[in-house]
Parts: sequence; structure tokens; C-alpha cells
Amino acid sequence: MVRRQRFFIISLCLAAVCSIAGLTLAFTERAHADVLSQTTQGTEAYCLSCHSNPDLKMTLPSGEELSLYISAEDLQHSAHSPLGIECEACHTDIKTYPHPVINYQTSRELSRSYYLACKKCHSTIYEKAQDSMHAQVAAENPNAPICTDCHGSHYIQPPDEPRAQISTTCSKCHTEIYDQYKNSVHGSELIGKNNPDVPVCTDCHGVHNIQDPRTTQFRIQTPELCANCHANAELMSKYGLPSDVYDIYKLSWHGVDVSVYKARWPTIWHDSAVCTDCHGIHDILKADDPASSVNPANLLATCQKCHPGVSANWTSAWTGHNKISQERTPLLYYIDVFYSSFIPVVLWAAGIYVLLQILRATVNRVKRSIK
Ligand code: HEC
Ligand code: HEC
Ligand code: HEC
Ligand code: HEC
Ligand code: HEC
Ligand code: HEC
Ligand code: HEC
Ligand code: HEC
Ligand code: HEC
Repeated sequence: MVRRQRFFIISLCLAAVCSIAGLTLAFTERAHADVLSQTTQGTEAYCLSCHSNPDLKMTLPSGEELSLYISAEDLQHSAHSPLGIECEACHTDIKTYPHPVINYQTSRELSRSYYLACKKCHSTIYEKAQDSMHAQVAAENPNAPICTDCHGSHYIQPPDEPRAQISTTCSKCHTEIYDQYKNSVHGSELIGKNNPDVPVCTDCHGVHNIQDPRTTQFRIQTPELCANCHANAELMSKYGLPSDVYDIYKLSWHGVDVSVYKARWPTIWHDSAVCTDCHGIHDILKADDPASSVNPANLLATCQKCHPGVSANWTSAWTGHNKISQERTPLLYYIDVFYSSFIPVVLWAAGIYVLLQILRATVNRVKRSIK
């Protein structure tokens, strides 16, 4: 009897466990199917039955010839296809053949028309991009980049792997700047070496909301842009570089000037030097590189851009990155030592003198009142 009861209870438990497991399984499958049904139209095989033909082409009204070949191999390795995002997710108006009549003339018009599909799923990025310099110039320049110029449409890859890929993407159009950058102290560490510590284009310009960098606002933010890395002691120590260049710059004539303008008149253009005026922008080199704009050989010319006519000894006025020291700036050092001991002595002496005067006046008054 006891054995039977035990058997019954065990069977009951087993049945319960099985049905819970079964239900969970069913739910998971259902959820999976739901996700897929939102994205999959099952159109890929159908569309590829014609579009996997490498010779499929069409002539657009502009006379341009457009290849209509879509590589099944590329699709398999694209970010979207393995997620079940197929042709119809983007080509919402094409379901069968013959296709609807097209209403664009050029292949650029085709791109600008179809790329709007990206908005459906990446709406935040799309909105951000509308605010960018690239979107603002689109009216006059239809070649200004849209999503597909940087990411592609059928073969979408992680855009930041390897990290150098980011700058390569921008180089497609900004070739001259890229050529400067790739030889700079920053770019040369990125290209081929993928050093994650140096800035890529998007670290300084942003990605989807790139703004015009030649405005007053951008200019007066430059020191902070550089300070993101150059005031980071841990990062700079890896390269044997000082991390106080920013703090000391802020105390220099130029630095104080720039912070006053930033606080008071942020929209008024001011020429006081920011980091890039002395070091260059996309072509920054190590300070001891003979070609560097801050190398002693070239420094005078760099200062003369804004201080025309100053003579060679002018550059010795630049103490902007260095604490005053006996070896580097002996004259300033001794003046500093002199003043830092002389001023306290004078102040103390003056204080004691005033105190003695007060004491004497008080004693005199007391004496007078006793008489
Ligand atoms: C029976 C063959 C065939 C099938 C199936 C087919 N296409 Fe096409 N497709 C063509 C041909 C041919 C053209 C050239 C223009 C035309 O004849 O309409 C074309 C043109 C296109 C174009 C460029 C012109 C336009 O209309 O914008 C796109 C985009 C396109 N197809 C997408 C698709 C999609 C998405 C599917 C699947 C839903 C698909 N095609 C299925 C044959 C086919
Ligand atoms: C993620 C969105 C997306 C998906 C998914 C997609 N396309 Fe496209 N397709 C585009 C965009 C955007 C263009 C416009 C051309 C451009 O900017 O690269 C385009 C252009 C085309 C063209 C015109 C030729 C060309 O390459 O410019 C054909 C043909 C085409 N697609 C067929 C297909 C087929 C077939 C599939 C499914 C196997 C598919 N597309 C899946 C976004 C997509
Ligand atoms: C049907 C929805 C959908 C559409 C339409 C769509 N995407 Fe995506 N996309 C996704 C999803 C889901 C992911 C994966 C999750 C994520 O990274 O956001 C993704 C990822 C990406 C990634 C990141 C790839 C990676 O591996 O880091 C890029 C870039 C991208 N999409 C660009 C585009 C572009 C460009 C278009 C238009 C041509 C587009 N997407 C259209 C849904 C979509
Ligand atoms: C000028 C080139 C450019 C344009 C235009 C552009 N992107 Fe990007 N996008 C990038 C780069 C570069 C990255 C990688 C950024 C990084 O990691 O710093 C990126 C990252 C992404 C990512 C993955 C990371 C994330 O932020 O989720 C998605 C998704 C994406 N872009 C979608 C889009 C869509 C959609 C559009 C159009 C509305 C678009 N992009 C327009 C260059 C571009
Ligand atoms: C498809 C070509 C193309 C690509 C790719 C591209 N740009 Fe541009 N970019 C342009 C055009 C065109 C302008 C507008 C130039 C003008 O009319 O002033 C522009 C403007 C800019 C500006 C504003 C300054 C100016 O000259 O107007 C910056 C900054 C910029 N791009 C940075 C980038 C960065 C960073 C990337 C990579 C993430 C990138 N661009 C990728 C074409 C491109
Ligand atoms: C260390 C920060 C930094 C990096 C990295 C950087 N830029 Fe710039 N960029 C700037 C600054 C600062 C300006 C403003 C220059 C000025 O005042 O004229 C600028 C200006 C620009 C301009 C507009 C002015 C011009 O000369 O045409 C474009 C376009 C541009 N950058 C693209 C790029 C591209 C593409 C890359 C990557 C290859 C890149 N930048 C990397 C800081 C940077
Ligand atoms: C994302 C981080 C980062 C940003 C932002 C950045 N830098 Fe750098 N910078 C570095 C690193 C890391 C090195 C060291 C590279 C090496 O020596 O291989 C470096 C090297 C330098 C050097 C060479 C120093 C020497 O003499 O060896 C100068 C000068 C310089 N940067 C100036 C700037 C200026 C100016 C800006 C702003 C426009 C800036 N950097 C923005 C990371 C950054
Ligand atoms: C981008 C332009 C620019 C560059 C480059 C530049 N300066 Fe200046 N500098 C200014 C401006 C503007 C002032 C402020 C003048 C004022 O406030 O009357 C100034 C002020 C000064 C002052 C103090 C005021 C004075 O006029 O005596 C010194 C010293 C100075 N700079 C030294 C240098 C040295 C040294 C260099 C080169 C290493 C240099 N500057 C590079 C723009 C620049
Ligand atoms: C008025 C010109 C001027 C300005 C503005 C300026 N620098 Fe320099 N910088 C120099 C000179 C000259 C040197 C080389 C001699 C020295 O160290 O003083 C130098 C050296 C450097 C070095 C290398 C230091 C070393 O010891 O190897 C770095 C990093 C640097 N600057 C970053 C910056 C950053 C970041 C800013 C903005 C916050 C900036 N600079 C602003 C002129 C300038």
C-alpha cells in the first residue's frame, strides 16, 4: 500500500515536471516564432531566384546601367539576414514580378529612396542623422552620405571591427584629410596597429550627428576634446607623456583667454590659440619630430601665424605646458624663487609694522588717559 502511494506521488510529480517543461518549451518556441514572423517574409529564396544571376542588369532612365545581382553568400554574412530580416523588410513595395513602375531617374535617386527603409527599425539613429552636417548639405549635394554609403545595404558588417574600419569609411569621401591623418601620431598608431587609445574620426566628430567643426562653439571646446585623453594620467603614462599639458595650458595666457571667451562670449570668434592652432589638426606629429609645427625648428613660424613680426626670442615666452623649472627656464625660475620668497617677507614685515603701530598707539592712548 505504502509502496503504491509512493509510486503514485512520484508519477504525479513527474507528470507535473513534464507538463511545466512542455509548456515552457511551447512558449519559447512561440516567442521565437513571433520574433521571426515580425521580420521574416520568406521572400529571400523567391527574390534570389532571379537576383542571384550575376548578369541581371537594368538601364535606368538616366542611361546608367545598374547591376541587379545580389550575392547569396554576402547576405549570409550580413548582420541582418541571419536575424530573419529579408528582402521585403526593406523593399516593402516589391512582392512579385513584374515589379511596380519605378519613379527615379538615377541610381543615386534609387539609393536615396530605398535607404528610408532603415528608419523603420533604426529610428533613433535616423532622427539623429537628420540633424547632421551630412543631412544639411543633402539638398545641394545628393552625394552627401546616407546610411548605405557608410554601411552598405545587403552586406552590412559591424562598423567598428577592426577599429581602423571607422576611419576607412570616412576616407571614401574625405580622402585628403584621411591622407594627412594616416601619417599623424594618432592615425599611424591606428592604421595597421589598431591601437585603441588613439582617436578615430568619430571620437572627435561624432558619428550620426556630425556637426560643422569650423564654428566658434566647436573651436572653444577643442581643449576639452583633446583633454579627454591628454589629461588622463593612466592613458598618458603608457606613452611616457605628461598628463598636465591641459591644466597648465588653462593657466597660460591663451588658455585663460579662451576660457573667458567660453564663459562670457561663446558665440564670438576669438583667435587666442587652442591646441590645434599650434599642433595641427589631422596632421599632429610628436613634438620632437623635425616636421612637427611645435618642433623648435618650426615653432617661431607657428607663433608668427598670429603674432606676425615677433622675433626668435618670442618662442621662449611659451611656457604653456611646463611648470617653471631650473633646467628649462632658469631666468623665470629665479624670478619665481625671488618673488615667492620676497613677497611673503614684504607682507610679513608690513603686517608686523602695522601691528607695532597699533600697539604703540594703544599704549600711548592708555598712558594719556592714566595721566
Ligand atoms: C522573375 C524574376 C524576378 C524576381 C522573382 C524578382 N525580381 Fe526584382 N527585378 C527583376 C528584373 C528583370 C528587374 C529589372 C527591372 C524590371 O524589369 O522591373 C528587377 C528589378 C529589381 C529592383 C530594382 C528596380 C526597382 O524596381 O526598384 C529591385 C529593388 C528588385 N528587383 C527587388 C526585388 C525583390 C525584393 C524581389 C522579391 C520580392 C524581386 N526583385 C524578385 C527580376 C525579378
Ligand atoms: C536592410 C534593407 C535591405 C534588405 C534586407 C534588402 N535590400 Fe535591396 N536595397 C536596399 C537599399 C537601401 C537599396 C538601394 C541601393 C543602395 O543604396 O545600396 C537596395 C537596392 C537593391 C537593388 C537594386 C540594385 C542595387 O544593388 O542597388 C536590388 C536588385 C535589390 N536591392 C534586391 C534585394 C533583394 C533580392 C533582397 C533580398 C535578398 C534585398 N534587396 C534585401 C535595402 C535592402
Ligand atoms: C526590419 C528591421 C531592420 C531594418 C529595416 C534595418 N535594420 Fe539594421 N538592424 C536590425 C536589427 C534587429 C539589428 C541587430 C541589432 C542591433 O544591432 O541594433 C540591426 C543591426 C544593424 C547594424 C549593426 C551591425 C553590427 O553588427 O553591429 C547596422 C550597421 C545596421 N543594422 C544598418 C542598417 C541599415 C543601413 C539599414 C537600411 C539599409 C537597416 N539597418 C535596416 C534591424 C533592421
Ligand atoms: C558617415 C557615415 C555614416 C552614416 C551616414 C551612418 N552611419 Fe551608422 N555608423 C557609422 C560608424 C562609423 C559607426 C560605428 C561608430 C562607432 O563605433 O564609433 C556606425 C554605427 C552604426 C550602428 C551600430 C552602433 C549603434 O549605434 O547602434 C548602427 C545600427 C548604425 N550605424 C545605423 C545607421 C543608420 C540606420 C544610418 C542612417 C540613418 C546610419 N547608420 C548612417 C557610420 C555612419
Ligand atoms: C559619401 C561621402 C562621405 C562620407 C562616406 C563621409 N562624408 Fe563627411 N561630408 C561629405 C560631404 C559631401 C560633406 C559636405 C561638404 C560641404 O559641402 O561642405 C561632408 C561634411 C563633413 C563634415 C563637416 C565639414 C565640412 O567640410 O562641411 C565633417 C566633420 C565630416 N563630413 C566628417 C565625416 C566623418 C567623420 C565621416 C566618417 C564617419 C564622414 N564624414 C563620411 C561626404 C562624406
Ligand atoms: C583629434 C581630433 C580629430 C580627429 C581624430 C579628426 N578630426 Fe577632423 N577636425 C578636427 C577639428 C578640431 C577640426 C576643425 C578644424 C578647423 O578649425 O578648421 C576638424 C575639421 C574637419 C573637417 C572640416 C574642415 C576641413 O578641413 O575640411 C572635416 C571634413 C574633418 N575634420 C573630417 C575628419 C575625418 C574624415 C577624420 C578621420 C580621418 C577626422 N576628421 C579626424 C578634429 C579631428
Ligand atoms: C582618444 C584619445 C586621444 C584624443 C582625443 C587626442 N589624443 Fe593626442 N594622443 C593620444 C595618444 C594615445 C597619443 C600617443 C601616441 C603614441 O605616442 O604612439 C597621442 C599623441 C599626441 C601627441 C604627440 C605627443 C608627443 O610628443 O609624443 C600630440 C602633440 C597630441 N597627441 C595632440 C593632441 C591634440 C592637439 C588633440 C586634440 C585635437 C589630441 N591629441 C586628441 C590620444 C588622444
Ligand atoms: C591662433 C593664433 C595664435 C597662435 C598660433 C599663438 N598665439 Fe599667442 N596669442 C594669441 C592671441 C589672440 C593672444 C591674446 C592677445 C590679447 O589678449 O591681446 C595671444 C597672447 C599671447 C601672449 C601674451 C600677450 C602678448 O601679446 O604679449 C604671449 C606671450 C603669447 N601669445 C605667446 C605665444 C607663443 C610663444 C606662441 C607660439 C608658441 C603663440 N603665442 C601662438 C594668438 C595666438
Ligand atoms: C601656443 C602653442 C601651443 C598650444 C596652444 C598647445 N601646445 Fe602642446 N606643445 C606646444 C609646444 C611648443 C610643445 C613642445 C615643447 C613643450 O613641451 O613645451 C608642445 C608639446 C605638447 C605635447 C608633448 C609633451 C611632451 O612633453 O612630450 C602634448 C601631448 C601637447 N603639447 C598637447 C597639447 C594639448 C592637448 C593642448 C591643448 C590643451 C596643447 N598642446 C596646446 C605648443 C602648444
